Amino acid sequence: MRFIIEHLDPEVFRWCELEYKHISLVVSEENVVFTNVRSGADKLSGRIEEKSVKELKPDFGKICILDPKAKKTLSPDDASLFDSFLFGGVLGNHPMDGRTEKELSAQMPDCEIRNLGDVQMSTDTAVLVAKRILVDKIPFDKLEFKDEIEIELDDGFSNILPYRYLIEDGKPVLPYGLIDYLMHEDETNQM
Ligand SMILES: C[S@@+](CC[C@H](N)C(=O)[O-])C[C@H]1O[C@@H](n2cnc3c(N)ncnc32)[C@H](O)[C@@H]1O
Repeated sequence: MRFIIEHLDPEVFRWCELEYKHISLVVSEENVVFTNVRSGADKLSGRIEEKSVKELKPDFGKICILDPKAKKTLSPDDASLFDSFLFGGVLGNHPMDGRTEKELSAQMPDCEIRNLGDVQMSTDTAVLVAKRILVDKIPFDKLEFKDEIEIELDDGFSNILPYRYLIEDGKPVLPYGLIDYLMHEDETNQM
């Protein structure tokens, strides 16, 4: 089973890098392909392709696109229906802007699409949730989530992440280093 991340942002920003590293750990490097990476490949681990998934499609067998706008929810049985699962490598815009549909589903109309609920998750959360469903065979409605999390910063302020996160062992699962990054990012840092 292959997990494809079509990078859609202009750069591999630090936040994105942390999410992508988390993805490589979650599904392991040999099962992940980052496509459409024009620069910043040195920050990633796994198979990295400069070309878009739209050009490389024949390499990837039967592809399922994970799109919040899909009508059907991903189920454990989908593991045997598809060879590859495709995600948008994009930092979430809040509110959701339908970018997955515009940039992936609408341009690859021969691929089936599935949702992971109708609330936007970070890309690494979406990959982790898909792995729990497809590999660990836990149906979507048996997973625990928290919508919107608040990260307390050192200076008394806090940062709200307006996305859905998976709860495991009583805590939201976040990329390693994200809290530290949010604590120390300054105004010159782009997300
Ligand atoms: C941060 S989300 C971006 C979503 C984008 N703003 C939109 O409205 O389509 C990054 C990727 O994670 C996956 N994803 C996140 N939440 C999802 C959901 N609820 N259902 C299916 N896929 C989801 C999609 O592949 C999406 O492209």
